[in-house]
Amino acid sequence: MKVAPSILSVLDQDLNQVLKTLEDANVEYLHLDVMDNVFVPNKTFDYNLVKEIKPKTKMILDTHLMIANPDELIEEYIKTKSDYLCFHIEAAKNPQEIINKIKSNNLKCGISIKPKTPVSEIEQYLKDLDLVLVMSVEPGFGGQKFMEDMLEKVKLLKELREKNNYNYLIEIDGGLNNNTAVLAKEAGCDIIVVGTFLFNSGNIKQTVRELENI
Ligand code: DX5
Ligand code: ZN
Repeated sequence: MKVAPSILSVLDQDLNQVLKTLEDANVEYLHLDVMDNVFVPNKTFDYNLVKEIKPKTKMILDTHLMIANPDELIEEYIKTKSDYLCFHIEAAKNPQEIINKIKSNNLKCGISIKPKTPVSEIEQYLKDLDLVLVMSVEPGFGGQKFMEDMLEKVKLLKELREKNNYNYLIEIDGGLNNNTAVLAKEAGCDIIVVGTFLFNSGNIKQTVRELENI
């Protein structure tokens, strides 16, 4: 299983040092939590930081847009050349248009669903997606408790992908650690987002390896 570290919990640290530590741990995906203090009650950074990070690293940028107006801002995020751009279905006015814009710029497109949002809300878009991001916490903060009942959505997304020959990766985000990662893997996740557990582990390289080997 792939590990996508979220730098939400280390935004106060030196960015270059964080990137180097993750690259030394052979991390493939970097999860960037964009928060606008409107869609979620927290503010982190916007497309300017994503644009700054892109040329600094070979890691695949997995940008999680927790913003209230993805329709208006998606062009700015496309300009960052983030490998994945994942918007929230709960905030999108015209999801298909956002998807089309991302894909016509040869970037990969994802949709994220909050805990209360059923898979049925995004079923019509699954055929076009490269990624589905299942939130296993209420978005906005790291360090929350994993919501195990979200794994039912992962199992359903896996079934739908197999039945319809869809191509999206299944990613889960929020409260992942060495125990919940086992549940995520069993349910069918391809990528897990890990923030607090990883950066508090004291040994990032070893923890990434342990999580990837689950
Ligand atoms: C929360 C973010 C998550 C969060 C994960 O809204 O989307 O990516 O940073 O953090 P942990 O792993 O600490 O739950
Ligand atoms: Zn996230």
